[in-house]
Amino acid sequence: MSNINIAIDGPAGAGKSTIARLVAKKLNYIYVDTGAMYRAMALCCIRAGFTADEKEKIEACCSDCTVDIEYVDGEQNVLLNGENVGAFIRTEEVSQMTSAISVYPKVREKLLDLQRNVAKNNSVIMDGRDIGSFVLPDADLKIYLTASVATRAKRRYLEQMEKGLDVKLEEIEKEIEERDYRDMHREIAPLVVADDAVVVDSSDMTIEQVTDKIVRMAQSI
Ligand code: DC
Repeated sequence: MSNINIAIDGPAGAGKSTIARLVAKKLNYIYVDTGAMYRAMALCCIRAGFTADEKEKIEACCSDCTVDIEYVDGEQNVLLNGENVGAFIRTEEVSQMTSAISVYPKVREKLLDLQRNVAKNNSVIMDGRDIGSFVLPDADLKIYLTASVATRAKRRYLEQMEKGLDVKLEEIEKEIEERDYRDMHREIAPLVVADDAVVVDSSDMTIEQVTDKIVRMAQSI
């Protein structure tokens, strides 16, 4: 049987990675986190001392680095120039830098082949912003997972509190709104609801309910 591709797109904090990871486990597919690839490149630029507005330097830096993924016990590791950078890419600084540099054409081009190849060679559930609309336009199933800004901010707030971080709900809400705006309004491959995507609003759903819904849709492909 040929490989099945599921695209899952949506704004920051909608729960895409949690849900995609669980769906992948249930269906025995590979979970591909494309945000982690963009984050690795943002980390590379931060380490090089560039700011997000230095377009040429950022594009050159991203063209020169290598980004790869590998799977260990079913979990994706992202490698920047061979180094597993998973521990460094989830900070707020990296989140903002990632959203800011992912507007640049050469930054996006860099990851396209990697993403398409992994989907060609495996059954995948791939999460991102432009997967159903651009990277995998022929995906077998496209999900647009969303939730209200208030819900997404609250989830992130609780997550950060659990990690013992001192955070403010209003600040998180503001950061989410900023990132949504940038991701939805950039010129290339913005976050949009693909024509043939199924919109799932998880504001009033549990993780289990969303996972089951997507698994059921996948099983009827
Ligand atoms: O999914 P995430 O929060 O890890 O993504 C971080 C940023 O990367 C996001 O704000 C925009 C960018 N991104 C993108 O432009 N295209 C993707 N397919 C995935 C992420």
